[in-house]
Formats: sequence, C-alpha cells, structure tokens
Amino acid sequence: MNNQLIIFDTTLRDGEQSPGAAMTQDEKVRIALALQRLKVDVIEAGFAVASPGDFAAVQAVAREVTESTVCSLARANAGDIHRAAEALQPARRKRIHTFIATSPIHMEKKLRMQPEQVLEAAIGAVKLARQFTDDVEFSAEDAVRSDLDFLCRVFEAVIKAGATTINVPDTVGYSIPALWGERMRQLIERVPNADRVIWSTHCHNDLGMAVANSLAAVMSGARQVECTINGLGERAGNASLEEVVMAVKTRQDVFQLQTAIDTTQIVACSRLVSAITGYPVQPNKAIVGANAFSHESGIHQDGVLKHRETYEIMRAEDVGWAANKLTLGKLSGRNAFRARLEELGYKFKSEGELAEAFARFKDLADKKHEIFDEDLQMLVTQTEAARSEERLQLQWLEVTSKTGTRPLAKVALSVDGEIHEVEARGDGPVDAVFAAIESRVSSGAKLLLYSVNNITSGTDAQGEVTVRLAKDGRIVNGLGADTDIVIASAKAYVNAVNRLDVPIDRAHPQRAAYEATP
Ligand code: KIV
Ligand code: ZN
Repeated sequence: MNNQLIIFDTTLRDGEQSPGAAMTQDEKVRIALALQRLKVDVIEAGFAVASPGDFAAVQAVAREVTESTVCSLARANAGDIHRAAEALQPARRKRIHTFIATSPIHMEKKLRMQPEQVLEAAIGAVKLARQFTDDVEFSAEDAVRSDLDFLCRVFEAVIKAGATTINVPDTVGYSIPALWGERMRQLIERVPNADRVIWSTHCHNDLGMAVANSLAAVMSGARQVECTINGLGERAGNASLEEVVMAVKTRQDVFQLQTAIDTTQIVACSRLVSAITGYPVQPNKAIVGANAFSHESGIHQDGVLKHRETYEIMRAEDVGWAANKLTLGKLSGRNAFRARLEELGYKFKSEGELAEAFARFKDLADKKHEIFDEDLQMLVTQTEAARSEERLQLQWLEVTSKTGTRPLAKVALSVDGEIHEVEARGDGPVDAVFAAIESRVSSGAKLLLYSVNNITSGTDAQGEVTVRLAKDGRIVNGLGADTDIVIASAKAYVNAVNRLDVPIDRAHPQRAAYEATP
C-alpha cells in the first residue's frame, strides 16, 4: 500500500466558514503562499460560486500558487462546476471537489431528493468535472450518518464516472475513532475499484475527536487527510493540520507513512492564519500553543535539562519554534526589511506600499528594540488594513486611569476623512475607549469576544487584540496590535466596525439552496 499521506488543507474554505473568519483576496493569497511553503499537497482555495469575491479569490490563488494543487469546492450541479473550473483556469495543477449529501436526514430534509436522484446528481457532477480536469474529488456529505450500502453504491458509481479521490466526511463531528476506522476499512474493502482512487477523510471536531478520527481512518487505508491550520473550521472546527502531521511524523513506528510537509514552517503558518482570521491560538494548544514546549514543574525542567527526551517527544525547532528568532532591529534598512518579508512570502505591490510598511516598522522599532517574524507579519496585516480605505480610522487616543475613579478615554477618529474627537468613561480603560468610539459610530453591535495575546514574549512585546462583534446576524473579527494594549484594543475595535460596514453577500456551500444538475 502507498506510504505517502496527502495533506489537503481547507483553511481557506472550511476554515473560512468559522464565524467572522472571512478573508479578503489578498489575505487568502498570503495564506496560500504560506501553505505552499509548508508544502501542503492540495490547497482548497474556496467555493468559487459563493460570490464574485470568492470567485476572484480562488482565481488569484490559482494564479499565484505554482507547486501545490489548487482546488475549488462545487456542489453537485452544473453551475457550481462551471464556475469552479473557470476560477481554476490559471492553476498549474487544479482539482474540482464536488459534493452532495448522502445521509437520509440530509437527503430528505435538506435536499428534498430521493436517493436515486442524489446518485444521478453525483455521477453527473463527476462526469462534468472530468471535462475540465483529470483531478476530481467527490465527497459524500454527512457520510457518517449515511447508510453503508448506499454509500458503497454512490462511491462505486462516481469512481466509474471518473472521480480520482473519494472523500468520506464526518460532517457533524459525530464519530469516534474505532467506528470511523471501521467505516473506512469497510468502504475500501467493499467498493469495487477502491484501489484505483485515493481515499480521504474529513472530520469535524464537535466531540473533540477530529484528529483521532482522521488518524483512525489513515490506519484503515485513507491516504488523504483534509484539515486546517489551527483546527479552524465550521462550529468546533476541522482536524488540525499540525496535529495530524506531527502525529504521523512522531509515531513513524505506528503509521509508517510520510507527508511532504516542511514541519519547520508550521508555527509561522499558524501565526499568520491567527493574525489574519482574528482567531487566537489557545496557549495549551498542541504543537502551536505558546505552552506546547514549555516546562513549568521543577521535576520536568530538571529532566529536560539532563536529557531532553525525558519529557519531550518532539523538538520545538522541528515545528518552527526556533525560527521565532530576532530578525530585525532599529538599525535595519529598507532592503533588509523587504528581503525578510519576501522570505516570509510577502511581496510588496509597489514602492509606495513598501515605504508605508517600512515607516510603520521604524515606528515599531522605536518602541520595541527586537523585531521578530511575528511582528513583521502583524505589521503587514495592519498596513494592508490601513490601505483598504477603511472609513473609520483611529487618529490618537488618551486615557486617564487612576485608583478610585472611572477611567476617562479621549479618542480622535477620522470618519470618511473628517476628524471627530469624542470621550467617554468606562469600567476600565478598554471599556472607556470602546464606549468613546461607540458614542461616535453608534454601530449598535454586540461584543462577543475580547481577547489579548502577546505576539512574542517579554514585557515590550506587542499585544495582539481580537474583538468579535455581532450585528444583524453577521459576525466579524477585528484585530489590532501595539506595544500598548489599550491602543491595540482601540485598533481592533475600529477594525471590527469597518468590517461590519462591508456587506458580504455569499452563499454558504452546505446551506445554500441546491439546484440539481440539469
Ligand atoms: O464537512 C463537510 O462535509 C464538508 C464537505 C463539503 C466536504 O465540508
Ligand atoms: Zn467540513
């Protein structure tokens, strides 16, 4: 049996379905290039038919990525497949990923289709997709709750129609490892011509078992895992790429499989996805959490000092923690700045953009003497946000905070180019700043989340603040970074309000109304 495990990353599609994680085209391209440096085999760039913006983003990723295969999702209908094929046209290697639900509950309540109609739609979709590319993946949505005999019939038929990868999703995160492994085993055993295709698994994390279920499927013969950076994704997320990859690498004795992943890129990629989506990484998250390799207890520290393997099963530098090194400082010049960002996969579109980012870098270097890769990534994210002609911008702020009094915030905002000074008191300095901003913008949004993370270590580190706002059913994440966390909070709030202002009209792949293949 083939000993190569294909890593299919869906951060830009399923990951983007996390509340407030919608990304701009430029952001998607930056993440796609980081995924390419990580050497993922397949990048699912989006759902091309969802909106003109999604189409353009898939197309841009298809244009920029040269090594990994670029994939677009498409429901099993002609319109979706044509749109996916069109968006993927510039790709060097392209895949169309078409899907339809096969469980009784989805077919009856959501699709309102008979099983035979679903079967026909699946066959038609795969045949049509094969007219555009030889690389066609078929997914049976909600395979976990589908009848095994029906699933076997559908898979047999789509293999005959030309599918090259068969994906078995646990769409609702319902399975447990023993059962998921058994399901994969039975499918591979029972479906005729199973050996002609790659079997794949796509697990959600509702019961916290996405990675365990994926690995169980691998042990039963799956040779592709669909996963996301930091485990981002619908509801509780998808299987986390870094956990799957490191499990397979660390337990070679069990899996005897290889991936193409350059694991030293994992931490950088995780940071970038977190900075762009506004989803912080919990400190105790495996592999990429700030504490993943730190030892607190004296006994552990003593053991590690005497012999590292006493308590460490992986080396921090193998996943890129050692790359968290000082890169630039106050005296670094513009060329060094540009060169380091190019190494990190970021290309300036113009000299003007470089000049703007370099000015921000100098400001930061005045406040913080050591500048790390994470600082540079955040700086670029902020420069891009500032250039996207946001209506609302923070000019300056001043906060007075004294024991025994309610803090007072004075904030100057530019709204459509006009400066407004506002002030408000609050329960703390951040509360006062938010109240001052609200007194001018009256967004009426509900604050769902406020979180602060250190981008790097040390008391002069930049604080990275995430603010999640909800209004009229829309959820957005705003991000701000600064060595002063009150200023970082104001930036994050302003960023979130700006995002609320940009309406996104897009279809959701698994909720949008279904039109059958004509
Ligand atoms: O969870 C799921 O079933 C999906 C499919 C579209 C593969 O995301
Ligand atoms: Zn999914």
